Amino acid sequence: MNFPIIDSLHSMFYPRTIAIIGASSKPGKIGYALLKNVIDYGYEGKIYPINHESDEILGLKAYRRVQDVPEKVDLAIISVPAQGVRGVMEDCADKRVSGALIITSGFSEVGEEGRELEDQVLEIARKGNVRVIGPNMMGIVNTAGKLNALFVLPKAIPGEIAFVSQSGAMGNAILSLGSKLRIGFSKFVSIGNMADIDFSDLLEYLENDDATKVIALYVEGLRNARRFLRVAERVTRTKPVVVIKAGRSKAGAKAITSHTGYLAGSDRIYDAAFRQARIFRTNSIEELFDVAKALAYQGGLAGPRIAIVTNSGGPGIMASDACEDQGLTVPELDQVTLNRLMERLPPICSTKNPVDLVANADPERYRFAIETVGRDPQIDGVLVILTPPDAIIPRGSTTIAHEIVPLPRVIGKPIVTAWMGGVEVEEGIRVLEENRIPNFPTPERAVKAMAFMSQFLSRRK
Ligand code: COA
Repeated sequence: MNFPIIDSLHSMFYPRTIAIIGASSKPGKIGYALLKNVIDYGYEGKIYPINHESDEILGLKAYRRVQDVPEKVDLAIISVPAQGVRGVMEDCADKRVSGALIITSGFSEVGEEGRELEDQVLEIARKGNVRVIGPNMMGIVNTAGKLNALFVLPKAIPGEIAFVSQSGAMGNAILSLGSKLRIGFSKFVSIGNMADIDFSDLLEYLENDDATKVIALYVEGLRNARRFLRVAERVTRTKPVVVIKAGRSKAGAKAITSHTGYLAGSDRIYDAAFRQARIFRTNSIEELFDVAKALAYQGGLAGPRIAIVTNSGGPGIMASDACEDQGLTVPELDQVTLNRLMERLPPICSTKNPVDLVANADPERYRFAIETVGRDPQIDGVLVILTPPDAIIPRGSTTIAHEIVPLPRVIGKPIVTAWMGGVEVEEGIRVLEENRIPNFPTPERAVKAMAFMSQFLSRRK
């Protein structure tokens, strides 16, 4: 009997029991790091280390084979050398394990012999109904289920972005950078060679995963492009999918063939296909983070019309230029809005869009201006820019941030910020981002993210 892939993936992300086959008590080994990470991240289910020579590892009773485990195993994590994986998979199939992560390298990514071995392992898995992620992968994370089954260090912080990466090391770097930038993840999957479970399966699972608001993918090549596009076209109607497709250049495409063994395919075809499936293509890790964060925190913009509120003219002009470059507009404000602004703001302020509150703008001036322009029917979202006012207004960048936090709900539209500067704005940025206001260090990056936000809703129509 074949279990639906969604159910298999669910028991891999939320396993009640995990067997780590190749678990080791020797620091420095991958089987040690895997077990230690699962324990340290606070996994609450049962952990069964499997090692054919040890009776106890890291304080847990160890078993010689997975069949010796006294209960059903939901997730097997396999970290034994390639030649041993076939036998281990036979054991997993015999034990009726629901799903397996094959960490081990040395399969189709290394050539024909490896491919044959991969096919053999997969055949055993299929017969035993064991769904497989990998081989040649780094592990998975499910922050909501307190599961960190990686052999690398970064501790993902909980959040709403699911990230699936075809490169383990890239995933490692992105998780680590995410922690530094306070960007949280719902799930992370190092997808490896995709012998069985591929991008399409994960898209289908993540489509219905309540913890995930945005799906981010690092793609080198697709196996079944037609199915991927069919699934993506459906998923992007409700959840944004953001992609980095590596191998845009000839040199990059060549590097992919030797990395994963996948044919990179023509970049122009990928580009057209992504557009058709309403997938956002980004060209750098920075852009991937920016877009995923903006969409996860504030969702889509109903249209392209942006109000800019700033305490300095220069960045307001830069933001206006960027809006035009990115297909957004900075429209004139409604007369009612202008009248309100003129009534309450000091005469030195500019009440036209961009609204310049000048250097001594305090939290109340910011709040009033954002709320007023935010309620304007000509406006779909507000970009708030701040250059450090702290010499005039003590802790101004932080107190103004606090004032902004409730405003997206008040105006019913997204707000994005650009707190510009160095250490003096750090606390304010923390306040903004902990409260899901996406902040960017420059107006240009903020505008670019808003351009993607405006496409999300319009592409769904
Ligand atoms: N059943 C139970 N235990 C087994 C076993 C089996 N079939 N085969 C091996 N073991 C035990 C070993 O005795 C060893 O235990 P010990 O540490 O107590 O001595 C442990 O499991 C690991 O086996 P070992 O032979 O020492 O392998 P290793 O740890 O050197 O390497 C891999 C195993 C999987 C890490 C390695 O083959 C590999 O593929 N590394 C690359 C991984 C990678 O980069 N993946 C892609 C990331 S993107």
